[in-house]
Amino acid sequence: MLRLSKESSEPDQNDPAYLISYAHHLERQARQLETEKQMVESERLRLQREVNNLKVELERLRSPPLFMGYIVETLDNKTAVVRSTTGPNLVVSISRQVDINNLKPDTRVALNQRTFAIVNVLPASYDPMVQKMELLEKPTERYVDVGGLDAQIQEIIETVELPLLKPELFEKIGIDPPRGVLLHGAPGTGKTLLAKAVANETQASFIRLIGSELVQKFIGDGARLVREIFEFARENAPSVLFIDELDAIGSRRMDLATSGDREVQRTLMQLLSELDGFNARGDVKIIAATNRIDILDSAMLRPGRFDRIIETPLPNAESRTIIFKIHTKGMNIKGDVDIEYLVQMTEGGSGADVKNICTEAGMFAIRAERDHVLNQDFRDAIKKITGDKETTSRITTGFI
Ligand SMILES: Nc1ncnc2c1ncn2[C@@H]1O[C@H](COP(=O)(O)OP(=O)(O)OP(=O)(O)O)[C@@H](O)[C@H]1O
Ligand SMILES: [Mg+2]
Repeated sequence: MLRLSKESSEPDQNDPAYLISYAHHLERQARQLETEKQMVESERLRLQREVNNLKVELERLRSPPLFMGYIVETLDNKTAVVRSTTGPNLVVSISRQVDINNLKPDTRVALNQRTFAIVNVLPASYDPMVQKMELLEKPTERYVDVGGLDAQIQEIIETVELPLLKPELFEKIGIDPPRGVLLHGAPGTGKTLLAKAVANETQASFIRLIGSELVQKFIGDGARLVREIFEFARENAPSVLFIDELDAIGSRRMDLATSGDREVQRTLMQLLSELDGFNARGDVKIIAATNRIDILDSAMLRPGRFDRIIETPLPNAESRTIIFKIHTKGMNIKGDVDIEYLVQMTEGGSGADVKNICTEAGMFAIRAERDHVLNQDFRDAIKKITGDKETTSRITTGFI
């Protein structure tokens, strides 16, 4: 350390010892300054980066908002027709940064505010309603759980399962595979059950859309929802799109007095156009169900909309025997159940009625604090259900 205090004698500038120590001092100082310089430099770089980031952010915040639209069709590599969310269809240019292959009809795109040019492709959006509806179900039903509908199952296998599992069969032969079926029949005859079984047996996504919900809950938006649900089905393919209670939207266009009726009408038109525009070879199959085929709009039944119209009849004695066996299989039963008697007593009843009787028999056992069901419980159940003339299931199914 160099000592420069007043008390010390003036150093001799020619003293070699002094010179060496002074040189060391300068070297240390140089090293220190070098380190400081590096630190300042790195700080400068950091600030520079921050300035750049802030500039980009500022640029982003200052840029005008983009409009959103949907592709109607692409005309060539440079132009497309888009449907803006507010106004009419527009013919616009496509920015060179946009990959034209991504521009399929109905793709969501961002449009320049001034020129409406397509500047970006946006991810597909599902209406929060579509998500809220929890459309995807995981059914566990199997064909063996469906009793007495063998011919119907066979038809569904041909029209729904085969095209999903072996589309190449249809391609080889050169025919369009069926797109979907319409199930109709009295309430409780197994329409919903069948649809679930197909979805499960084919391992397809099962998307369930309930007509009455669509109409009641989504007034003003039914048509858009139908479009988005079909899109959702395509994205989740292979899938079975099950339209339950089709009559709620597909009933005959009568007097359109109220705005609610007009809304249902719009939803129906959208549904028809989705059914028409459907790619037959795609792996989305439609199953619709109704228990009021008599009030369905004839447009729904026109050939080409549904490939097959399949009826689920009320089960005859033989079918009821099978259905009783299906529903008693898992029950803890002591002794023999006189199924013949039960079948005889349920003439005119549906599969749902049979199931009801089994459940009710179980309830009798629980009430009697038993852990098993006896033949008598089934007799009591039948008495309870058939004795009660007001049950709605009997009124609607003609169950006596
Ligand atoms: N053929 C059948 N085999 C076995 N169980 C059946 C059969 N039909 C109906 N069931 C029982 O009845 C229940 C209700 O039937 P499902 O919901 O399939 O009737 P649906 O035809 O869809 O009636 P709706 O027209 O009222 O919608 C089923 O979950 C099932 O337990
Ligand atoms: Mg049903």
